[in-house]
Amino acid sequence: MCGIVGYVGNRPALNVILDGLRRLEYRGYDSAGVAVLDGRGGLAVERKAGQLRNLEARLDELDVPFEGTAGMGHTRWATHGGPTDRNAHPHRDGTGKVAVVHNGIIENFAPLRAELEAAGVELTSDTDTEAAAHLVARAYADGPTAGDLAASVRAVCRRLHGAFTLLFTHAEHPDMIVAARRSSPLVVGLGEGETFLASDVAAFIEHTRDAVELGQDQVVTIRRDGYDVTDLDGNPAEAKPFRVTWDLAAAEKGGHDYFMLKEIEEQPTAVANTLRGHLTDRRIVLDEQRLADGDLRDVDKVFVVACGTAYHSGLLAKYAIEHWTRLPVEVELASEFRYRDPVLDRQTLVVAISQSGETMDTLEAVRHAKEQKARVLAICNTNGAQIPRESDAVLYTHAGPEIGVAATKTFTSQIAANYLVGLALAQARGTKYPDEVAREFAELEAMPDAMAAALDGVEAARELARDLAPSRAVLFLGRHVGFPVALEGALKLKELAYMHAEAFAAGELKHGPIALIEDGLPVVVVMPSPKGRAVLHAKLLSNIQEITARGARTVVIAEEGDETIRPFAHHLLEVPAVPTLLQPLVSTVPLQVLAAEIARARGYDVDKPRNLAKSVTVE
Ligand code: G6P
Repeated sequence: MCGIVGYVGNRPALNVILDGLRRLEYRGYDSAGVAVLDGRGGLAVERKAGQLRNLEARLDELDVPFEGTAGMGHTRWATHGGPTDRNAHPHRDGTGKVAVVHNGIIENFAPLRAELEAAGVELTSDTDTEAAAHLVARAYADGPTAGDLAASVRAVCRRLHGAFTLLFTHAEHPDMIVAARRSSPLVVGLGEGETFLASDVAAFIEHTRDAVELGQDQVVTIRRDGYDVTDLDGNPAEAKPFRVTWDLAAAEKGGHDYFMLKEIEEQPTAVANTLRGHLTDRRIVLDEQRLADGDLRDVDKVFVVACGTAYHSGLLAKYAIEHWTRLPVEVELASEFRYRDPVLDRQTLVVAISQSGETMDTLEAVRHAKEQKARVLAICNTNGAQIPRESDAVLYTHAGPEIGVAATKTFTSQIAANYLVGLALAQARGTKYPDEVAREFAELEAMPDAMAAALDGVEAARELARDLAPSRAVLFLGRHVGFPVALEGALKLKELAYMHAEAFAAGELKHGPIALIEDGLPVVVVMPSPKGRAVLHAKLLSNIQEITARGARTVVIAEEGDETIRPFAHHLLEVPAVPTLLQPLVSTVPLQVLAAEIARARGYDVDKPRNLAKSVTVE
């Protein structure tokens, strides 16, 4: 949801900024823009609608060199104002001296714009962001903060409602950038004689691994030789230094055409990393556990809140947690959760699942839960993101950077993490003995090998993708843990291939969806194990016959060796036999490949599906 890069150093800033933006394009690609300070009082700005490559082509055409060793850039996911050149960031004030880039939403933009217009300011975009440039320019020109860029930024930010990361440059200060954050991410990168700002360390990891994470409502000023941080009132504030543990290679495509294909293949390692170190002496240990021992024991109800793919992983958490702990579990879309007044108290555990840790819907659900005194445990892939910071405990998935917009390795890692939470609750409540916990953990630990075997078998899904690419719609059916897998398979196909894809609980078929079946319609069926879930297997087998009789073309995901299914499957995609609760970790794999390859066959950009962004920091 908008990527931001800032740089003050000794190298030509433009290249550093463009390289950084390239690594942040997963956050949005509706437009891109740069601003470079030339050191002689000039501020050059260029912006272009569409992906970063459009901006780069535009910069190549220009004769004006973007010289200067300080500047900033932006890649946008549009909220206020369409994805056009004039709405692209950076935005400037009327004199062209102040420029701003922004991630988030300034909720009170309308009165601020009205105030500026009443004062005779001409606004040149439809965005919520532009007002910030004019306001800072005015605060800098006149009044108590005149001539002080950081003080002007603080004064303006105190007036802003909503979520923002804002970076400001002023032509008269070619050696500094002032930035502020509230509920949107911002990290500082500390190099030798150069300092960076970015939404995500991926933007500067090539140059330095020493980083500083800004806190809520903090303002940072970066210069070539360092930075200082204050709160919005100008008091010195503490920000958290950290060292990035992954390297550039982890964020590169590693020989694959798309990040997503690389990330699908990384799943066994990602799941192994999620599990690593969490069983000590037959006990599950979470990462940052700021809950007292008794808190988990006293839990009497669990809510799981999440969005998108993370929500699908949450649906799976319910099967494991209820089964292992006998606690009631409700799984809810984060965007619905707080608006329906859920019944929460001190004994409620809210598990918030978010890859990015910055999804605004999930963050607001966490805040709501905390206000109601519930305990919050976050499952997150991004160290130090806002959601884990505001939670009582966290379990990091350690899946490594995920660049493809469609979540893959973080989904399977979330499933593993959810199960660890289930086991932690079972151990705290005594519904499982330590050796039972250890046994379940050992089954989880065997999953990376099973997932690797599932990956070895994806060629059949690749071939099938070419066949299915011209279809108009695809239906998905599943039951028990196969239902969330079906939902995730359909979501992947919608996101990537822009096909109408819908998943149903197979038992519901006869209550309506069967009317959709027509000659040749592809229906993907996620089969349960014939041994582990014999009754459900038999019922799904009947469903397959019902839809086949009505002309459906069946694509069946089934356990290896499931011979009963063969006569009824037009296409069979086999996955290794694993325990029932763990089946989603293998059955998801061919569905991810199917969606990616159908999208590729249809000529779409697998890593950057239209209209989407990887992290959505607006409600
Ligand atoms: C966006 C992404 C989805 C993701 C969802 C939740 O919509 O496109 O892939 O599942 O956000 O993201 P989170 O970072 O909270 O897991």
